[in-house]
Amino acid sequence: MDYAEAVAKAPPGWRHFSVHDVARLPSAIRIHELARVPSGEPDDSVVRALFWTLVYHLEPEKWDELTRYEPIHPELIDALPDRVAMAIDVGAGSGRLTQHLVQRSRRTLAVEPAAGLRAMLKRRLPDVEAVAGWAENLPVGDGSSDLTAASGAFGPDPIVLAEMRRVTRPGGVIALINPEQPEWFEASGWSRLTVPPLPLPDHPRWLDEFFGPLDPPRELLMQTVDG
Ligand SMILES: C[S@@+](CC[C@H](N)C(=O)[O-])C[C@H]1O[C@@H](n2cnc3c(N)ncnc32)[C@H](O)[C@@H]1O
Repeated sequence: MDYAEAVAKAPPGWRHFSVHDVARLPSAIRIHELARVPSGEPDDSVVRALFWTLVYHLEPEKWDELTRYEPIHPELIDALPDRVAMAIDVGAGSGRLTQHLVQRSRRTLAVEPAAGLRAMLKRRLPDVEAVAGWAENLPVGDGSSDLTAASGAFGPDPIVLAEMRRVTRPGGVIALINPEQPEWFEASGWSRLTVPPLPLPDHPRWLDEFFGPLDPPRELLMQTVDG
C-alpha cells in the first residue's frame, strides 16, 4: 500500500497512537517505514500511515487477537500444495498461516520482522524456524522453497515478487492470501480463488472500534515458478 492510501485507509484505532510511538519503534523498523513517508508530512498523517506497523511492533497482542477472529477461510488452506519439503511464510505475524503450513510441509520457515509477533509464533509453533527478516531480502538460498506463501502482507511489489521467485524452486508455488491489488495478479496470469464469506464469529466490540469491521481472508492468488 502506498503512503497516500495508507493514510486514507487507517483504521479508527490510529488515534490510539502518536508521533512519540513512532519514535519508540525499533530503529531499523523506523528507518525502513519512514523511507516511504514524504518529507514535511503532518504528524497525524505519519501516524495514520504507520498504524499497522505500530500495532505489529508496539501492541502485537492486539494484532494476534484480531487474527483469532479473522481465520483464513478453510477452502483457501485446502487449495494450497500439500506434503512439500519446505515452506516459507513471509511476513508470518503470529502464525495465522504458518500453523497450516506446518501441517503441509516437512520444514517450515517463518520470516517476520516484528520481535513480539515472532515470539508468539515461536511459543505456539516450536518446530517452526522463526527468523527476523524482510521480504525484500529473504534470508534464504535460491530455490530452497517448494511453497513460498504470505497472508495479508504484500501487493505487486516487483522487489518482493522477485525475491519470492528467487527462493522458490522451479515447479514450486508462490501463494498469496489476500494480497493487495488481486486483479493485478490475475491479469498477470496468477490463478485466483475467491470464496464466499463465512458468518463472522462473536467477537469483542473493541476489535471493530479499533480495527474497523472484521474481514477474514477469503482470496488466494497462486503462481507456479517456471522451470
Ligand atoms: C497483515 S500482517 C499478516 C501477518 C500474518 N501473515 C497473518 O496472516 O496473520 C503483515 C505482517 O507482515 C510483516 N511485514 C510487514 N512488512 C514486511 C516486510 N517488508 N517484510 C516482511 N514482513 C513484513 C508485519 O510485521 C506483519 O506481521
